[in-house]
Amino acid sequence: MSIDVHSFYTPEQFNRLKAVADTKETPFVVIDTKMIDEAYTELTKGFPTADVFYAIKANPAPEILTMLRDRGSNFDVASRYELDKLLAIGGVTPEQVSYGNTIKKAKDVRYFYEKGVRMFATDSEADLRNIAKAAPGSRVYVRILTEGTVSADWPLSRKFGCRPDMAMDLLILAKELGLEPYGVSFHVGSQQRDIGAWDAAIASVKVIFERLKHEDDIHLKMINMGGGFPANYISRTNDLATYAEEITRFLEEDFGDDMPRIILEPGRSLISNAGILVSEVVLISRKSHTALNRWVFTDVGKFSGLIETLDESIKYPIHVEKTGELEEVIIAGPTCDSADIMYEHYKYGLPLNLAIGDRLYWLSTGAYTTTYSAVEFNGFPPLKSYYI
Ligand SMILES: Cc1ncc(COP(=O)(O)O)c(C=O)c1O
Repeated sequence: MSIDVHSFYTPEQFNRLKAVADTKETPFVVIDTKMIDEAYTELTKGFPTADVFYAIKANPAPEILTMLRDRGSNFDVASRYELDKLLAIGGVTPEQVSYGNTIKKAKDVRYFYEKGVRMFATDSEADLRNIAKAAPGSRVYVRILTEGTVSADWPLSRKFGCRPDMAMDLLILAKELGLEPYGVSFHVGSQQRDIGAWDAAIASVKVIFERLKHEDDIHLKMINMGGGFPANYISRTNDLATYAEEITRFLEEDFGDDMPRIILEPGRSLISNAGILVSEVVLISRKSHTALNRWVFTDVGKFSGLIETLDESIKYPIHVEKTGELEEVIIAGPTCDSADIMYEHYKYGLPLNLAIGDRLYWLSTGAYTTTYSAVEFNGFPPLKSYYI
């Protein structure tokens, strides 16, 4: 299958990215913050009353944080190191920060508290008790487990969250410990292609809100719907407007006029499409004289930003400038590790005349690439990134 770059970028968008790419040595990612700005506008148009907390883990570049700060975004922070990076840009108040990681040390909770942060995610009793001690009086929201593992390209379901009955117990305990039981969160899985996954999650949240109100006089105020909104990869999804319309309908069906504060934590959907990763073909070979498939080795791989090709989960569109007859290929990275194969089962077609030195343009790679890159595996330096 060949990729039409213009079904992912307008000619103007691609030319802007390529103009920078043409001046740089591979491998690198080039990101156009104007496209992130446009994605932010689209998201807030779709969810006009929601508060956006950008999931910094998707890409913590100061150029992106600054731009989103100026747009009025808040921030979902996963560690004290992300917090330091965020506060270093200046102009972000602690009220704009949520410590969204349910797995954290007590001393890190304290660190956030000392910086003024008062909103914490949790999904376990031990973590909740740490929060009560290290961040007294803070707001807590409990993350619930969600369905939808199969329909998300990058599921987050099993490791995070707890069952709704435990979530209720934790919110009751939070009150007893002097914290403010503030709300419920979920994440339906990253790159979630089934919009119905939000329907099921919102219905669970509704049950928790109602039970706690009627049985324990606890009035929750917030639903954090996490991320999961789509980027444009090979397996296409509905557009964001359709997600927004449907999810808003689910919320209205369950909460009607009694709508709580809605928080969104987008990462991938805001950033991915704004970036392209550019690599170069290092070697093309066959494993026997009669082998039907060629191996294409590039100067970027699983250890230099493309870890989400694990199990071929995320299928990035790959564009090359050469045209002509295509041949199915196996695409692999440059390291001495046989795990460093990006695509073997899903067959990408690349032109037969592709040669060593040609460039591959990996589209929609602005998110979850730079930060996943190893610092020195096989001596290769971390993935470089440039921002327009
Ligand atoms: C707590 C939390 N919120 C938000 C996100 C961002 O999700 P996505 O990139 O699907 O938008 C993640 C991703 O791992 C997450 O762990």
